[in-house]
Amino acid sequence: MANRKQIKFGAIIHGVGGNIAGWRHPEVPSDASVSLDFYKRQAITAERGKFDLVFIADGLYINERSIPHFLNRFEPLTILSALASVTSRIGLVGTLSTSYSEPFNVARQFASLDHISGGRAGWNVVTSPLEGSAGNFGREHHPTHGERYEIAEEYIEVVRGLWDSWEDDAFVRDKASGVFFDPAKLHALNHKGKHFSVTGPLNIARSRQGQPVIFQAGSSESGKQLAAQSADAVFTGHESIEEAQAFYRDVKQRAVAAGRSADDIAILPGIGPIIGRTPEEAEAKYQELAALVTIDKALHYLGRFFEHHDFTQYPLDEPFPELGDLGSNSFRSGTDKIKQQAREHGLTLRQVALQSATPRSPFIGTPEQIADRIQQWHEQEAADGFIVHTHIPSGLNDFVDHVVPILQARGLYRTDYESDTLRGNLGVPVPANRYARQAAASEI
Ligand SMILES: Cc1cc2nc3c(=O)[nH]c(=O)nc-3n(C[C@H](O)[C@H](O)[C@H](O)COP(=O)(O)O)c2cc1C
Repeated sequence: MANRKQIKFGAIIHGVGGNIAGWRHPEVPSDASVSLDFYKRQAITAERGKFDLVFIADGLYINERSIPHFLNRFEPLTILSALASVTSRIGLVGTLSTSYSEPFNVARQFASLDHISGGRAGWNVVTSPLEGSAGNFGREHHPTHGERYEIAEEYIEVVRGLWDSWEDDAFVRDKASGVFFDPAKLHALNHKGKHFSVTGPLNIARSRQGQPVIFQAGSSESGKQLAAQSADAVFTGHESIEEAQAFYRDVKQRAVAAGRSADDIAILPGIGPIIGRTPEEAEAKYQELAALVTIDKALHYLGRFFEHHDFTQYPLDEPFPELGDLGSNSFRSGTDKIKQQAREHGLTLRQVALQSATPRSPFIGTPEQIADRIQQWHEQEAADGFIVHTHIPSGLNDFVDHVVPILQARGLYRTDYESDTLRGNLGVPVPANRYARQAAASEI
């Protein structure tokens, strides 16, 4: 493993948490999801821990059964722009859906964040799982899973094309001669495809890192294929090292088959570490979180993944119900996994609901145990790094203060940033401007 890059870390900032009842924990500010102060403090802590990036997830549809964080939260690009001004090195990655937006706006927004932050922006491409999103965008139907991925593929191509509108030295800004830019270095895209028609050019230049970094989240076959073709990094989720290794191998092989190098794409599973001074203390912290969730709330939470299916209609202590295709047009990779695990392990509905609401992660334990597990996943090709989500605010401090130093002492993790751009820190190359590259090639 000598040549493998060091471990990468991202921190999800998730307000009152990705858990249904986490907001009730005494330590969680109950307005954290709309507290600028909370987001700033978490971002500054992650930067103190030399994390590669902070990550803001998002969604486009809520109802009265959604979890508290989803009901009342910041829009990613807005909060990331604010975080850009209180940080200087850490990457700023936000989720934006290709199913419910226009490439011109999105290219412009992320390019702006990239300039505001001095080259630290990343776009997490998602296709939006929730059917109800259609009603918020004047659409009659939520596109099917397959259509969403087809749209996403063309969408990324258009955005990348727009980001190259200006060659790097296009803006001359010569006050003496009055020349502001070199028209030969300005390029319209003139894209006409199945889903988008975009003329361009974009009204903002490339940044210091060339283009924002592309993340992808979505782990179905189509999701993996899109990532392998187009993404610089993948956000995924796995419950065991074996599952993570299979995903890792699959995406890297697909990237190579698509003509890229396996190193061109970083695989970053999400982990939810719970840290204690002893294994017992860590377990007690997990139990404290789990105890906040009632079975009714857990059933609602589970229902969201299955198109807001009403699970209260089934007996709790009998085998998980047969659901046919339900869920496959929304959170396909997630619902497939829930069904498969329930079948393989003979789980009851109660067990599935409680486990989904407060997953028992392999990353619960002392700092040494968690560092060992991280090292194992990294060395055994299950992950290039991790997106860390912590259930209570002090969880991130604990990770930075107690787990990070162990990994640094083992030489597995940076003691200082290598760069002040996200690409620089992730080790992802700056893409050459396509027109400059073509011009250079035609001169040879
Ligand atoms: C780890 C992970 C994180 C995700 N984060 C988001 C998100 O922030 N917002 C969103 O709308 N969808 C998110 N998704 C959902 C995907 O965008 C996708 O729409 C859904 O999972 C169906 O695709 P799949 O079957 O390929 O996983 C995420 C999926 C995964 C696996």
